[in-house]
Amino acid sequence: MLAIIGGSGLTQLANLDVQRREMVRTPYGEPSGPLTFGLICNQPAVFLARHGYGHTIPPHEVNDRANIWALANAKVTQVVSVASVGGIRDGLKPGTLVVPHQIIDYTWGRKSTYHEGPGRPVVHIDFTEPYDESLRRRLLKAAKLAGEDVLDGGVYAATQGPRLETAAEIARLERDGADMVGMTGMPEAALAREMGLPYAAIAVVVNYAAGRGDSIHAIHFDNLQDALQKSMVRVRRIIEHVCQLPPEQP
Ligand code: HPA
Repeated sequence: MLAIIGGSGLTQLANLDVQRREMVRTPYGEPSGPLTFGLICNQPAVFLARHGYGHTIPPHEVNDRANIWALANAKVTQVVSVASVGGIRDGLKPGTLVVPHQIIDYTWGRKSTYHEGPGRPVVHIDFTEPYDESLRRRLLKAAKLAGEDVLDGGVYAATQGPRLETAAEIARLERDGADMVGMTGMPEAALAREMGLPYAAIAVVVNYAAGRGDSIHAIHFDNLQDALQKSMVRVRRIIEHVCQLPPEQP
């Protein structure tokens, strides 16, 4: 079963034919909200709103451990994360959809592993390729079938938030090799890997990053709602096609 974690602009999935909602208790506390189980194009799927259904949980307070644990406990087989980002690289203008292939993590102080606590063995997961390549391919194929332009690959910089970056910070991220910046990609991706869940993301560029394009002096989030809603309609279309695609052969 496919799981979708929705970020800003995607607090519910209009194309999910809802069957039931379940609030899951986890050893790591409460997930962002109930898991919503249902069907997308007759295929079972589960949805979780990362910031809560009322969008009340800021990025640095998302309980990623509880969210991923709850999805693993529900026996999902793959996790698609939808996350809004600021565009850094030339060409990543608002409205662009990207399936990133790499991550640089600048977050701090977040609970970022299941492998801790007294008496627990030390575990190092491989994270060379942070996203599941086969699920990335499926997302790209689904986008093609849906007739939606999506960029294949890009480096996602995960910042701590909730404040946006300074122009100098964005310049530094670019020097580091980042193409886009968001606040929620980590530790979500790493925890999914620890749980053995194939994980990939659709990044939705909602603004030029600080100091770029029309964000040269400030980022005006108020103007973005319209563009965000339009992009999410496209994301929903892609998700419908993902649900109908058979798993990629390795
Ligand atoms: N920076 C960080 N996170 C974001 C941005 C941004 O510019 N836009 C959307 N999420």
